[in-house]
Amino acid sequence: MANVIVIGAQWGDEGKGKITDLLSRSADVVVRYQGGVNAGHTIVVKGQTFKLHLIPSGILYPDTECIIGSGTVIDPQVLIAELDQIEELGISTSNLLIAETAHVTMPYHRLIDQASEERRGNHKIGTTGRGIGPTYADKSERTGIRMLDLMDSQGLRDQLEWTINYKNVILEKLYNLPPLEPQKVIDEYLGYAERLRPYVVDASLKIYDAIQRRRNILFEGAQGTLLDLDHGTYPYVTSSNPVAGGACVGTGVGPTMIDRVIGVAKAYTTRVGEGPFPTELDGELGELLCSRGAEFGTTTGRKRRCGWFDAVIGRYAVRINGLDCLAITKLDVLDELEEIKVCVAYEIDGERCEHFPTSARKFTQCRPVYKTLPGWQQSTSNCRSLDDLPRQALDYLKFLAELMEVPIAIVSLGASRDQTIIVEDPIHGPKRALLHADGSPASLLSA
Ligand code: GDP
Ligand code: IMO
Ligand code: MG
Repeated sequence: MANVIVIGAQWGDEGKGKITDLLSRSADVVVRYQGGVNAGHTIVVKGQTFKLHLIPSGILYPDTECIIGSGTVIDPQVLIAELDQIEELGISTSNLLIAETAHVTMPYHRLIDQASEERRGNHKIGTTGRGIGPTYADKSERTGIRMLDLMDSQGLRDQLEWTINYKNVILEKLYNLPPLEPQKVIDEYLGYAERLRPYVVDASLKIYDAIQRRRNILFEGAQGTLLDLDHGTYPYVTSSNPVAGGACVGTGVGPTMIDRVIGVAKAYTTRVGEGPFPTELDGELGELLCSRGAEFGTTTGRKRRCGWFDAVIGRYAVRINGLDCLAITKLDVLDELEEIKVCVAYEIDGERCEHFPTSARKFTQCRPVYKTLPGWQQSTSNCRSLDDLPRQALDYLKFLAELMEVPIAIVSLGASRDQTIIVEDPIHGPKRALLHADGSPASLLSA
């Protein structure tokens, strides 16, 4: 039995969907704990591509229970479309459960998200425009609608009539937008309620029962550490807590029940939306990573900004999440390069800095200090063991593991399940496995 959290160690889109799907074969329950339809997790199985926004990436395994936890925010319209799409492919969704305490994204959340971004002008966050920030803001302001409110028809009518009239003042007076018609929204959401009713449960109790029955639980993070509301590059962050700690809050599971934490990081770095990105590459190299990595957003289709691997934020992710090990994805994207750079530290005002600076202003001033490694200039996508990898690729992985003081348990070399090297079983192997990518002892960790 092991309860494992999978988190993004960078700015999202690290390949959490692929890794969660892969690990789901040893999981009984897979739980999403935060975020909403801003997430886009891609799974490729036997040439078929699945893009999931809210449904956990364990859904392709018929015997795995999938739970959308309390800390998520649910856009019912998108969730229903996702359910339809999955069912049309002949995959059952009867193993899905939704937390009754999860908050619901309403039409005014999407409108306010988009209008406020426009109003911010040069100061915009570059959000996905899916209403995520305003839904979480209402949760904090205590004007949110929860799934259990959606299930109570009469209560919902009263609550929504008041809330929509209140939001209409904001839409009309602040953003010059037409008001919403309360009755229309109420009818639309009552329809969604009927479709979703069979899935809605006390999720925290279900998870606790599963833990007591010694089931294996996988907690699937969305977004990434640097997009965390508290620990990311604020204000250029999302409005939830993607870090490992968020899994406990977002599901109602106590920290003593978590056995280990796996971080997912690309072999380089990407970011969507605005905000500082020290290792960002403009020009030809950035374009090359973007095209080789097919770096276009799963949710919005936006082009992802690309850059070199940043070990300073990597070390930060190890610390903030208490990572036991890493899964390094998209190593194959670097195959063609003659040389590869890794940011080992920053320079701020001429001074070397080894740690992620919490001040956004300072982070913007960071200049990367690079170490250059030779590339391998051959394809790795068919490698299935560390022995198959070119020496330079293995050296690259070893260098990353040493820099971040964390072992690499999984190496991914393509989008499909089989394009993966399992270096060390990340769930059942020794905790904080004292191994580097090549299997040698990690002296830094064993010290
Ligand atoms: P997530 O949000 O963290 O789940 O990541 P996304 O699904 O948004 O983006 C990762 C993209 O990279 C998807 O299109 C995956 O199919 C793809 N992918 C995952 N792992 C690999 C890999 O090792 N190599 C390559 N070339 N693509 C990968
Ligand atoms: P997955 O789970 C990458 C980014 C947006 C924007 C910021 C705030 O697929 O890794 P929001 O709509 O959340 O208010 O936008 O966060 N963002 C993501 N970037 N992957 C994601 O999810 C993201 N979800 C949000 O681009 O910069
Ligand atoms: Mg994604």
